[in-house]
Amino acid sequence: MNVDVVLGLQWGDEGKGKIVDYLAQRYPVIARFQGGPNAGHSLHFDGTSFVLHSVPAGIFRNNTMNIIGNGVVIDPVIFAEECRSLEALGIPVRDRLMISKKAHLILPTHRIIDAASEHSKGASRIGSTLKGISPAYMDKTGRNGIRVGDIIAHDFRDRFLALKSKHIVFLRQFDYAYDADQGEENWLGAIEYMKRFPLIDAEYYLADCLRENKRVLAEGAQGTLLDIDFGSYPYVTSSSTTCAGACTGLGFPPTRVGRVYGIFKAYCTRVGSGPFPTELHDKTGEMLREQGKEFGATTGRPRRTGWLDLVALKYAVTLNGVTDLIMMKADVLDAFDTVKIATSYIIDGKEIGCVPFDTHTPITPVYREFRGWGKNLSAIRKEEELPYQLMAYIRFIEEATGVPVKIISLGPDREQTIIRD
Ligand code: IMO
Ligand code: MG
Repeated sequence: MNVDVVLGLQWGDEGKGKIVDYLAQRYPVIARFQGGPNAGHSLHFDGTSFVLHSVPAGIFRNNTMNIIGNGVVIDPVIFAEECRSLEALGIPVRDRLMISKKAHLILPTHRIIDAASEHSKGASRIGSTLKGISPAYMDKTGRNGIRVGDIIAHDFRDRFLALKSKHIVFLRQFDYAYDADQGEENWLGAIEYMKRFPLIDAEYYLADCLRENKRVLAEGAQGTLLDIDFGSYPYVTSSSTTCAGACTGLGFPPTRVGRVYGIFKAYCTRVGSGPFPTELHDKTGEMLREQGKEFGATTGRPRRTGWLDLVALKYAVTLNGVTDLIMMKADVLDAFDTVKIATSYIIDGKEIGCVPFDTHTPITPVYREFRGWGKNLSAIRKEEELPYQLMAYIRFIEEATGVPVKIISLGPDREQTIIRD
């Protein structure tokens, strides 16, 4: 058996939570491979909604084991809050969730460094979620980090205090007021809570699953255009959000990658700074934001909005080896008379079909226009009932990417999902 991977193809917020929850019924094991509480994966069912930040989106399914992989960074406080609210809903979280000992911890001082660093950048700030993601990954690659497996060590507290002291020295370079002790007691309390979960060598666990022919789904966070290597650097997150990141973030070989589900919205959004060639600053953009309820699940920030960018989508499909496309939020386009897709960019007077290296290059997108469908899609449950204008839109994307759109989502609910064979 192979590991199937599900990931975002844009700048995050594609709807990964809904799709992982949906696909989870077919997988006994769901494993998150990177990112941290910068993620906000929303799920809606039975009239309720829930936003997950660290816990994989298979947690609501009976008989599903969820794993937080080594590639993830965990803030114990956010993790404990999230698990406690799941427990309050009657979810037996501790029976359904295991954590890799090799996942790294986000300390309270990582969050302070994140804020101080962003503050010092002024207008060129990244627009980070300020959850301490980048400083935690810096300590990981800088070989200073503290891992989940360390929490049971007898000298854990000393290691924590030693890293905190390093952070205080590091913070001297910034002109930034902070209280280094703030949240510390809470954090140490959350560490005690974490000890109640099975802390495992997830790479061995997954190898056993594959040997026993158990299906595993690897869940990504953020999106390909926020990838540390291939995103619009430096306006990216600090982890590998692409398919390759699933291998390093969980510990299974590339030869065992199975299907790669690439999720994209029928249009584009971005939250935080950085290039966004098809961004709309006008009424249409506002309408996309309103219709799509495009406000951050983690930070509440209004998201930037624009038309679908096929240049970027093709890049993401190629980087990840996507086998199945999943199109989200087509219903948001219901109210538009015409919808557009960017098919190439004009840079310095030349038309090009690839994503440029320089993130500051002014880009003018070339658009292809499509007729809107003038119809409410949210109640449609069968492919045959989809308007032909929408099918033309989808076929165009399939032809350009060479990958079939296998799932069409027409709303946040589990029921509003059309599967195509
Ligand atoms: P999900 O998993 C959308 C963005 C931030 C910022 C940049 C760096 O819900 O799709 P960071 O906190 O990682 O240092 O921020 O990345 N970002 C996201 N945008 N969805 C996310 O996650 C994001 N996680 C980070 O807005 O621009
Ligand atoms: Mg998000």
